[in-house]
Amino acid sequence: MPAPNASANIAVLASGGGSNLQVLLDHFGGPGAHAGRIVWVGSDKPTAGALTRASNAGVPTGVVSDPRDGDALVATLRSAGADLLVLAGYLKLIPEAVVQAFHGRLVNIHPALLPAFGGAGMYGQRIHTAVLEHGATVTGATVHFVDAQYDRGPIIAQWPVPVLPGDTPATLGARVLRTEHRLFPLCVEAVASGAVVLGDDGNVHGHVDVPVSPTAAEWRFGLVPDTAGDAGTCAR
Ligand code: GRF
Repeated sequence: MPAPNASANIAVLASGGGSNLQVLLDHFGGPGAHAGRIVWVGSDKPTAGALTRASNAGVPTGVVSDPRDGDALVATLRSAGADLLVLAGYLKLIPEAVVQAFHGRLVNIHPALLPAFGGAGMYGQRIHTAVLEHGATVTGATVHFVDAQYDRGPIIAQWPVPVLPGDTPATLGARVLRTEHRLFPLCVEAVASGAVVLGDDGNVHGHVDVPVSPTAAEWRFGLVPDTAGDAGTCAR
């Protein structure tokens, strides 16, 4: 693993359209100094839009033919030179061998405020439907280190998002996705640089400077800038 402030070689796994991958490609391929570069993108779905986005950015891609084969995935990631693994809408459980090989170097984003509305079966619109059915007034985005269970593991950063009157799963999901697009590059950059680490005590050390959350009124009246625009496509 690289020393703090060294440049990380980042692999990304994604199953869907890849809008979160796109903000990472834009961030790490964009102007200015960054603590990492994206060296490989993989998917369990050969037709995933994320693979097209990676190819368009000139990043090598691969298909994970057996997502349960952890040793094969570790070998693929090692041969790509990856030392940081990022899940950007990857819908398969990460095998134990990968969790161990990338301990403290494996990060996921989830479109809710974990530990609420996470776990097996909680993906895509199901999450936002459950939020509305429970009458929650706040949801959000969470970035966390990954362990061997869905959507568990120490939390790196969260960004709250209000539920507004009249919301549908689609409108709520779109609002959450926009915050994901802002939160995710900040968190991956922080882990890549070593500003945020998973300590031997199992806790997250360091923190991500998350901007002040927009208010419900700012969301309602369209005053929140859109960074990446397009919608996610997830199906586990
Ligand atoms: C995002 O909401 C992410 O949090 C979840 O899956 C969705 C992926 O969307 N894990 P995209 O493929 O990045 O557009």
